[in-house]
Amino acid sequence: MQNKIALYGAGNVGATTAHWLAQKELGDLALFDIYEQSAEGKALDLMQSGPAAGFDAKITGSNHPEIIADANIVVVSAGVPRRKDPETGKYPGRDELIKINQVVMEQAAKKIKCYAPDSIVIVVTNPIEAMCHVVKEVTGFPTERIIGQAGALDTTRYKAFIAMELGVSVKDVNGLVIGGHGDAMVPLPTHTTISGIPILDLISEKRLEEIIHRTAHGGGEIVNLLGYSSYYAAAAATAQTIESILKDQKRLIPSVVYTQGEYGYTDLFIGLPAILGCNGVEKIIELNLDFDEKAKLDHSMNAVKDVVALLGYN
Ligand code: 2OP
Repeated sequence: MQNKIALYGAGNVGATTAHWLAQKELGDLALFDIYEQSAEGKALDLMQSGPAAGFDAKITGSNHPEIIADANIVVVSAGVPRRKDPETGKYPGRDELIKINQVVMEQAAKKIKCYAPDSIVIVVTNPIEAMCHVVKEVTGFPTERIIGQAGALDTTRYKAFIAMELGVSVKDVNGLVIGGHGDAMVPLPTHTTISGIPILDLISEKRLEEIIHRTAHGGGEIVNLLGYSSYYAAAAATAQTIESILKDQKRLIPSVVYTQGEYGYTDLFIGLPAILGCNGVEKIIELNLDFDEKAKLDHSMNAVKDVVALLGYN
């Protein structure tokens, strides 16, 4: 049977994810958005690009949530993104969106539970870890079927900056970013190589620190430039995540996953290296972190915990 991927939210992230998914021919796509005709219009436009771009996919859109019925993957990007205030030039942190996005996510999760009860849910709305908790609370889905997409985005940013710095192909950069999707995220120099060559053989520690800092503030850098949240990289990272699941590739992709003792954490969604396959999160990989990296991960975990507590569950 053909896969069905629902995009719950057809704004910049949802629609651009649909674009990457269509190009990868991963299945039929159903776009949902509360704005009347917006999802329908984007779906039709994307469908019409198929002959020119060379992909086959059935793409539909609607402002009725029933359109997500029986999807095997639902991507939730609905909610309020970060936006720059034109007067002050200031913009909210991801965590500051929690109250408004909690309401949106509770509504989305109810619809997913009703119309796509067997789906794997990919959460993209910020603050991502907290939003994963909302999906768990409302749907009661097994936690391997709830995945937050953040580490894939942070990692692609980190790798892009390293490739730009060294003038090498992005394909030869290996590395990963774990922890919360916030300023306290944890890029891992000890696990970063260029085709197996340790990164610190090729770049000074100081320069790498600057790249790590830029990665951690990468979302804000783009809000500053565009006036609103980034979407190309987030969408590409989401499509990469979905591809690993639907093709059962079992790729190791840093993702927001539910911990049950891993790294000493319990009952908390946080970004960790995970094997993603047809069952969703198939395994969380426990790395040997050095003292400094573990301390940073603990710090990030505490920041995530504080935000999750704002949800007011139990
Ligand atoms: C980012 O980091 C929007 O959280 C997203 O760009």
